[in-house]
Amino acid sequence: MNAPKDFNDRMLSLGLARVSEAAAHASAKLIGRGDEKAADQAAVNAMRDQLNMLDIKGTVVIGEGERDEAPMLFIGEEVGTGDGPEVDIALDPLEGTTLTAKDMPNALTVIAMAPRGTLLHAPDVYMDKLAVGPGYPKDVVSLEMSPRERVLALAAAGGVTAGDITVCILERPRHEEMIAEVRSTGAAIRLITDGDVAGVIHVAESDITGIDMYMGSGGAPEGVLAAAALKCMGGQIWGRLLFRNDDERGRAGKAGITDLNRIYTRDEMVTADVIFSATGVTNGSIVKGLRREPTFIETETILMRSKTGSVRRMFYRNPIKRG
Ligand code: FBP
Repeated sequence: MNAPKDFNDRMLSLGLARVSEAAAHASAKLIGRGDEKAADQAAVNAMRDQLNMLDIKGTVVIGEGERDEAPMLFIGEEVGTGDGPEVDIALDPLEGTTLTAKDMPNALTVIAMAPRGTLLHAPDVYMDKLAVGPGYPKDVVSLEMSPRERVLALAAAGGVTAGDITVCILERPRHEEMIAEVRSTGAAIRLITDGDVAGVIHVAESDITGIDMYMGSGGAPEGVLAAAALKCMGGQIWGRLLFRNDDERGRAGKAGITDLNRIYTRDEMVTADVIFSATGVTNGSIVKGLRREPTFIETETILMRSKTGSVRRMFYRNPIKRG
């Protein structure tokens, strides 16, 4: 029997960048065209084709959905050439399908890769999320605190007042109380209409984005992707799965989750070294959106490795093939 191949994150990361780039390129023609599904499908096809060229024995653990509802990149799908290390893949070929269809900021293509068995197999349910950037004491805030307590604790830890804190929250009716409570502290709120992977990543670069803390519920798969990003960039994230019905609880059971109330830390969602790549589709504060010119498309990708904490930003200019 051959010995298992090592997770060579250094070289694999460059291949991973090609995967998120390809997905962004594929969605280029669909930005601002009002068709979420077509944009998503184009990104899925391209991501899958590119992923299957990588020398990995990959399994999609965070993907487009369960096998019976997603024809491609479904949870459990085997990807890669099969000749390489055994890895878990978490992906969102188009994070912000509506943002793309409406040409609004912060749509990304996102993928993370880690050794087999080291990414949380989060079912497609909601997750209550809380995240802060690097430099704060461990567990400076918690999901058990009220929104008000979180703002006050973060301000105290940073030696500032609540009025100096900016919190990012998804604008949803379910967050109205949270928004009112955060506002009552004097803190500012950056409301986003979609895209909470980008929302969470913002806390890791608060000097650029102006965001100190992320809170609120969104997709659990996006929570694991955000945890992978923060493991590379620094920062803390906590997540608790939220279930609306028995079907959703059943999904957790299928994913092997038994404690439905557990709060996961960043390193419990991503337990080993991870590599993460995201390419901008529409303009954002983390990476620029793609630029279409008559003869080329240019994308910006952020590529990161948790082992080294390295963050690489890459511009890729690809000539448009002439007919
Ligand atoms: P999609 O790109 O898959 O549409 O997800 C966008 C998103 O805003 C995520 O970033 C977020 O986690 C989730 O949807 C929130 O769900 P909901 O729109 O149901 O509140």
